[in-house]
Amino acid sequence: PAAEAVVAVRAGALVDTVAGRVLSDQIILIEGERVRAVGPSGTVSIPAGAQRIDLGRATVLPGLIEAHAHLTSDPFRAGYQGLGVSAIREALYGAKAARDTLEAGFTTVRNVGAGAYGDVALRDAINDGDIPGPRLLVSGPALGIKGGHCDNNLLAPDFNYTAEGVADGPWAARAKVREVVKYGADVIKLCATGGVLSKNTDPGVQQYTFEEMQAIVEEAHKLGRKVAAHAHGAEGIKQAIRAGVDSIEHASLIDAEGMRLARQKGTALVMDIYVDEFILAEGERAGILPESLEKERKVGQLQRDNFRRALAAGDRIVFGTDAGVYPHGTNAKQFAYMVQYGMTPMQAIQAATVNAAELLGWQDKVGSLTPGKYADLIAVEADPLKDVSALTRVSFVMKGGRVVKSAAPSATVG
Ligand code: ARG
Repeated sequence: PAAEAVVAVRAGALVDTVAGRVLSDQIILIEGERVRAVGPSGTVSIPAGAQRIDLGRATVLPGLIEAHAHLTSDPFRAGYQGLGVSAIREALYGAKAARDTLEAGFTTVRNVGAGAYGDVALRDAINDGDIPGPRLLVSGPALGIKGGHCDNNLLAPDFNYTAEGVADGPWAARAKVREVVKYGADVIKLCATGGVLSKNTDPGVQQYTFEEMQAIVEEAHKLGRKVAAHAHGAEGIKQAIRAGVDSIEHASLIDAEGMRLARQKGTALVMDIYVDEFILAEGERAGILPESLEKERKVGQLQRDNFRRALAAGDRIVFGTDAGVYPHGTNAKQFAYMVQYGMTPMQAIQAATVNAAELLGWQDKVGSLTPGKYADLIAVEADPLKDVSALTRVSFVMKGGRVVKSAAPSATVG
């Protein structure tokens, strides 16, 4: 076989997400799809014939990781408008969303909830090289109770519709885990409480019982899959953590005991504190139900205040935004909120790199530019450690050693 292509990327500044510091004038040596060496310019020997990419004064970071997205969801077809969208149409929409998300600098995405295994198809199409997109870790349909947040409650009983992830009772829930794993799920998503965007559910109310969640977690872990639990209400959050889930999604109304339990059990909190802005500004036009807008007005600010408290309490917070509720590719808008509510820019970057990689179980593949990991990297022209919103203007993206986007004014390729 032919020798793998060697690329030397020079970075004026490089964010070391493991140590939490910025290194100046670094060379990242890439062989094939992986990082081979990283070090100060002059100390890394660049083989003759290597391609050179000089990113000038830009700041280079490992590719960003989004831990909570719905790539097959079009934000402007919410509520009843979404009922006319076929699963095949959703998958095609997902191809566009995947490209937009990758070009925005997110080289890895955990997709937590999609109908008809559209996310599995998307993952496989990207991995086969048919379409561009981030590395995907996907759940397939989300598990939940009948009539709950992960069901679809929009239609009259005459239509007799139940979402494919619905499974009531510990054994049915266990069987559903086996089913979604059979059809390609890498991770299991469950709904522990009601939600904002579903009809006739209350975010504060627990849905799956402790016994059901315990069964799901046991089966999922046995099969080597982690579990992500949608949970807004304080009691549902605590029961999900006690049942052993790996992450709490949203965590809006988490209380002090929930924060303590999360620390004890090492449960990550994936708090989507940007999306409120989009829902309240654009939701009505997008088709979001009036009752959902009402629920959002109740939980949005509480979630942001609890983000600040959970951070201060020392909980592990991972970057996840619920993209698909708002437009794909604008995920990085959330960084500014994470800083506004208490993180340093470095902490926010770590939440979307090393810490997210660990939650995904992909700490050996992504999250830092370390020899052996994938050569997934991005560049921004302004300093994200001074102004984290610089991450909304990514000028260069490389995934697995291949340049995906190169709009960097300072880049020279030779
Ligand atoms: N998918 C979530 C739900 O319907 C969205 C919650 C959005 N609101 C928020 N403040 N994070 O429950």
